Amino acid sequence: MTFTVAIDGPAAAGKGTISKAVAARLGFAHLDTGLLYRAVGAQVLRGVDPEAAARALTAEDLEAEDLRRAAVAQEASKVAAIPAVRAALVEFQRAFARRVGGAVLDGRDIGTVICPEAEVKLFVTASPEVRARRRHAEQVAQGADDPYEIVLAEVRARDDRDMNRTDAPLKPAEDAVVLDTSDLSIEAAVARALEIIDMRR
Ligand code: C5P
Repeated sequence: MTFTVAIDGPAAAGKGTISKAVAARLGFAHLDTGLLYRAVGAQVLRGVDPEAAARALTAEDLEAEDLRRAAVAQEASKVAAIPAVRAALVEFQRAFARRVGGAVLDGRDIGTVICPEAEVKLFVTASPEVRARRRHAEQVAQGADDPYEIVLAEVRARDDRDMNRTDAPLKPAEDAVVLDTSDLSIEAAVARALEIIDMRR
């Protein structure tokens, strides 16, 4: 059995948490596709050519410690605008989506470009202020001390780059269900996502 759940949306909207929880509940494999772009971004910060980094990417690169850094996130959204970088990462993601037993992929273009035939498409979103507050709290918990205003500016800069690029811009697929998590707890957002998936199984 193959069954693909595509979960797209902007940074810190809750897609990662929802995707992990949904995959665990359904017994599906999960791929955080942002890690692919972050791993390329991390290599570029070390001086590697973006396309060469994307072509040479290995599963081990996705486990590097520094991928969660804010500087890596910004670089990821820059390399993600390069068509040759995106093209080099397509097949890996499509093969993952076709895994026997089901797969959840989260990112920006899963429902629109990577898996237009996905059985379920969710677009998880929240206001920029709510997302920046969540990201700020995460960073404080990890010992970073950038002020909230800086985190909000970073969230907006990344939204802007992701939504306005020519190749695979961030937008809901026409047949995606939009889930706004601004006023939802994590538990309520996961429950709603599972309800939407169950209706299509
Ligand atoms: O999801 P995450 O914040 O880890 O993604 C980092 C960056 O990678 C995003 O800002 C976006 O530019 C890029 N990305 C993408 N397509 C995806 C996943 C992530 O362009 N499917």
